[in-house]
Formats: sequence, structure tokens, C-alpha cells
Amino acid sequence: TIERRVDALLRSMTLQEKVGQMAQVSIESLGTGEGNNFRFSEKMRDAVVNYKVGSILNNPGYPPTPDAWNRIVGEIQSAAAGTPRRIPVLYGLDDIHGANYVNGSTLFPQQIGQAATWNRELVRQAGVVTAYEGRAAGVPWTFSPVLDLGVNPLWPRLWEGFGEDPFLVSELGAAFVRGVQDPLGAKDKLIVSLKHYMAYSDPKSGKDRTDAWIPEHYLREYHLPAYVAAVKAGARNVMVNSALINGVPTHVNKQILTDILKGELGFTGFIVTDWQDIENVYRRDRMTNSIKEAIALAINAGNDMSMIPYDYKSFTTDLIALVKEGKVKQSRIDDAVRRILRVKMEIGLFEMPVTNVRDYPKFGGKEHAQIAYNTAAESMTLLKNERGTLPLRAGARVLVTGPNANSLRALNGGWTYTWQGERTDEIAAGRYHTIVDALREKMGAANVTHVPGVLYSKQGKYFEDSVVSIDAAVQAAAGADYVLLCIGENSYTETPGNTNDLNLSDNQLALARALQATGKPVVLILNEGRPRIISRIEPGAAAIVHTYLPGNYGADALVDILTGAVNPSGKLPITYPRYANDLAPYHHKPSEGATNPQGGETAPQFPFGFGLSYTQFTYSALRIGRTAYAPTDTLEVSVTVANTGGREGKEVVQLFVSDLVASLTPDITRLRGFEKIALRPGESRTVRFRLPVKALAFVGTDLRKHVEAGTFEVRVGGLKGTFSVGKDLVF
Ligand code: IFM
Repeated sequence: TIERRVDALLRSMTLQEKVGQMAQVSIESLGTGEGNNFRFSEKMRDAVVNYKVGSILNNPGYPPTPDAWNRIVGEIQSAAAGTPRRIPVLYGLDDIHGANYVNGSTLFPQQIGQAATWNRELVRQAGVVTAYEGRAAGVPWTFSPVLDLGVNPLWPRLWEGFGEDPFLVSELGAAFVRGVQDPLGAKDKLIVSLKHYMAYSDPKSGKDRTDAWIPEHYLREYHLPAYVAAVKAGARNVMVNSALINGVPTHVNKQILTDILKGELGFTGFIVTDWQDIENVYRRDRMTNSIKEAIALAINAGNDMSMIPYDYKSFTTDLIALVKEGKVKQSRIDDAVRRILRVKMEIGLFEMPVTNVRDYPKFGGKEHAQIAYNTAAESMTLLKNERGTLPLRAGARVLVTGPNANSLRALNGGWTYTWQGERTDEIAAGRYHTIVDALREKMGAANVTHVPGVLYSKQGKYFEDSVVSIDAAVQAAAGADYVLLCIGENSYTETPGNTNDLNLSDNQLALARALQATGKPVVLILNEGRPRIISRIEPGAAAIVHTYLPGNYGADALVDILTGAVNPSGKLPITYPRYANDLAPYHHKPSEGATNPQGGETAPQFPFGFGLSYTQFTYSALRIGRTAYAPTDTLEVSVTVANTGGREGKEVVQLFVSDLVASLTPDITRLRGFEKIALRPGESRTVRFRLPVKALAFVGTDLRKHVEAGTFEVRVGGLKGTFSVGKDLVF
């Protein structure tokens, strides 16, 4: 068995060999050149052969083709095969929205768009394709999915996650894990990295890698459940939150890493740090007087592998010294290495350290493109459609304008070919359609006028824009039946994407206002990683479609929605705020949003779970199995949904439950179930939800789960009902 093989291997290893397994270095530090031209220097052999480094990450600057990746990984593995224990190196990459660092791979909508599909099967398939194409390149480990909750719209990585709700993130996260990993060890599978464990997304300031202040019962109520679900689904790796929780860098938080993850959750895979984060405990967080002390704290807290990413020599030397000085126990090292070796064996890395893209004929092909297109099409969310503005009238003439109208970069977002996605247009041009291209192809070039209006400045920040000509856009609107205004953000991720203002930029607002003043129907096409405030231009918009960051097939999917070839079925996985200073997620406490001291609207611009269709769905016959339940029973809810409109469509049936009174102020409501169904006109279906009453528990300040006697309200598609729970249960 694997455990016996691991034991035998571990017994034969020197301390140097063991600490080497715990080190992960970045490819750029091991050679020179970019992409297909990357060449290793002697440093690679030094790292792998002399220092026994067990893991490498990152892309060499520009995405190599899969055969170049095969060569790169092959060279590493042949160096590893020349070491006494012949332990293969585990290569890891940020396969975010597909195997994005492999040239020619299939790129999906970013996770926020995948979440907007509310379709577990599509998300699972995105995992299947990502794994297939990642393994075709020979890289068996992806640093995805992101399980951070999108509860702070300022946070520059919101789009990397599955939205703001713990249940939605848990369900889709688990589906993605299964798609990537199952069955573990197959030649087209990878291991995932659940990241960034945990609560990385909820810093007080909204800025990347800053501190979050979250009491433990809230951590357990909101941030932990998605990790519980993904660990249950078999996830083999977890990456640590780069920031601080309650003043403690997560990388040295033994309770979170060891007690909760490895203890309570029974996680048997390994934990990897984030980029240089052990060093950050010393340099940034000023918790120690040296890197060596930081290494002791972090390894003792439960980190198994350090993403160093440059200085493997001092990491391994310091760690050996710490063991000899008794500051890190040999048993902790053995535990870390056991976990790493276990996973290397589980994925068949010893038997198949390299792959050949020729064995992966579906790489970048039509079948995968279709899945990416389907995901993009199901993610598009129709937020407004006044007087049936959409679909566009056949034969109509359109003006397409705005900074995102002709940009593959804006459609894809960050982590596309490069970290910030800034070379996407250069790399993908000609292979995929921008919105302008797709409109011309599907509506006829003569019917489509493109005027930029506003452009992103080349030298500016990632989402800064500059005016080209608003007047030219206004003039062109005169000859059009519709104006398609493509606004939002340019690509970014992590700290470079920090913002001080969620409002859409002044230039884009000015362009929108000028176009709305023409009297032509203006359709806002939102293409952005986080919800930018549109409250000043929403009233003048005839229709609004949110595309999120839909990937390389996003423009095709969008145009099919605009023309009516596809009926929109996406729903918001986040709350779309109306004001930049009113940012509570939907599952807030009753006090939040109850009154607005300034008067005026307190509702968000668009609520969580919202999205329109070109058909109508009518809900009836909400039935709750019983009027009274014991806390150990199973709650049953059913509802009938009918397509009462004129065309086929998909609807997401969402089950919300509110605990009306509780000894800890309850959230106003919580999502507890969802199903996406397809209905033809006139067709109806009864959807049934079954869930343990225990799933409605809240985490008390005593850190235990509580179901309390009292009344619960059920809400599905505008219908309401109640049931009661007869007595308390604490577990
Ligand atoms: O996976 C990423 C993480 O999300 C941010 N820091 C770097 C890691 C590896 O690229």
C-alpha cells in the first residue's frame, strides 16, 4: 500500500533529503529565457540534485506550448531520477480558469463567472478540462480552486472565488475538486490546492494581504465550511492565507493549520505556504528577529512545504539546523515529508513523472471549447431588461463602445497567460473573438460600428482609463438602433488590483451619460472582476448584462445572449452594491441596512441570486414536509416551477431559510439549497429539497453548533412558508 511505501522511503532518507522535499522554488530562479525558449542553468541541478528540492512552481514568463512544458518537466524529472531516492519533483501552477500557463489551452470564465452559472456539473467539467490540459503539459498540481468568500467587494481577488455565500462556495468548490482529482492517479488528473486557507478575502480595509478581524465563531460559521466540503471531496493540498487574522499571520497559526485542518477536518494531504510567506513573518510582520526563527514558527504551526521561492539553500540549511538544535522536532519533519510523499504516490508521479501531449488529443480542441463556451453562456446574468430591449431586433445596427469592447484581456482578467493578464491581447489575438469581433461575425460587419470612447491607458494602473473621444461615440450613436456600452475593469490580480474607490471611473461614467443623453437604448455590458458602482447610470440604461470575466469564449456567448440565440440563466453569486460605502453581503444581521440615515434607497443595486430570463418562471405549491421537526430530522421542501413565458429557459431554484429568533442574532436569511433546471414553454417541474435540520445550525460563541427550538421561515422564488423545530440541539 501507499502508506507502507511511504514508510519505507522515509526510513531510507537523510535529513537533507527530507527538508529538500519541503522546499518549493520558482522556475525563473533556475534558468533564463521566456516561454518555449526557457533554458535551465546549472542552478536547476543544484536545487534538485544537491539540495533535493522536491517541488517547483510558476511559469517562465510567457506561456510555453504543451510540448515545451513536456521538455521542461522532463529535464527536471531526469535530474530527480539521478538522485539516490529518485523522488520525482512535484510541479505546481496556477491553473486559474483553465490551464492558463499552457499556450493553446482552453480558458473558462473566471471562478466568479463559473459561480454565476449555479451549475455544479459545469463547474465539475471545468475541473475535468483544466486537469486534462494541465496534465497534458506534465504539470500535476493546480493552485486552485479559490474558496475565499467574496464578502468584501473591494478585495482585488473577489473574482477568483465562487462568490459570497458559504453554501454556494462549498457546493461548487467540492464539484471542482471532484472534476480535477477524481479518480486520483489517473493520467489526466491533477491535485488541487484549496486556497487561501482561510478568511483571506475579508480584510477590514479590503486591500490584499491586510488584516482581518474575525472572531472564531464567525470563522467557523462562514469561512470554514467550504474547506470542510472540499476536504471531504478529497482535496490533497491546501495553501495558506498570506495575511493576518486577528493580528496573527495565518502562516504561524497552529490552531488554524494543525488543530483545525489536520486535526478536526482530518486532512491527510499537505499544506503549502504562499509566496515567500515564511520570510514575510520576519520581514513584513516583524514577529521574529530572523528568517530562521520564522521558519521554526511556520513549520511548527503545520506548514509542510515552503513556497520559498528563491533561496532554497538557506531554507534547507536553516531547517536542518533547527532540527539539530531541537527547535523543530524530527517527528514534525517526518509528518510533513510523509504527507508530501503520500500525495506524490497517490497521483502516480513515481510511475508517470512526465507526460507527452500527444497522449492528450483533446488538448485545446473543440470539445473543450464547447464546455468553456457553455459555461460562459450560462454565466451571463441579465440584470435589467426594460420593455424587452433584449434580445436585439434582427437586422439592427449597433454602436459598440467602451474600454472593454475590443479587449480579450478585459474578458479574461488576471491569471491569463501571465500573472496580471497584461499580455493577453498579444498572445490570444486572432484565435478568439473580442466583443467587437463576435458582433461583426454574428450580426454582419455592416451593422456594427465600433468607437472606443474610452481606453485603458497603457502606462497607467491596471484599471485606469483615458478618454479617446466621447464625442465620436455620441455621433456614431445617431446612426445606430442600440448602443452597447462595454464597461468595467481591465485585468489585474492581487495587490496591484487594490482600489480606494469602487465607483466606476469618471471617464466611463461620462461616456455612459453622454450616450444615454442621445435617447438611444443603451445596453450596459458589465465586464469586471468585482462589482463597480453603477447607481448613477443604471436608471438611464435600457438593459444590463453582467459578463463577469467570461474568458476566451465570452464574447461569443455574450453575443448569443444579446441576439437571443441563448436565453440568459446566470444569477449573481454576490450582492451588487448600490453605494461604495454600503457593502454588506446578503446574509447580514438584521441591524444592517434596516435604516438609512441619509434617507433614500437601502436595497443593493441587485441582490444576491438575482438574474432575469427572456422567459417567465412561475412558482407555486410551496410545500414543507411537516409543520414541526425534531432537530435530528430531515427537512423536506418542494415547489413547482412552470415556464409560463414563450421560450425555453433555465431557472435556478434557490432555497433560503431564516432562523427567526436565536440566542445569537441570526442572519436575516441563508441559502440552504439550489437546483438549476431547464424548462420548455408550458412545462413545469416539482423541485424537492431534502436537508438535515442540523444543516440550519449556527455556530455559537461557545464554538459549538446550535439548532434552537423556534420558528424558521422558508423562502423559494417569492413564496414563503414556516415550520418549527421542537427542541434545542447542540453538537
Ligand atoms: O497560487 C498563488 C497565490 O494565489 C498567490 N501567491 C502566489 C501563488 C503561486 O503563484
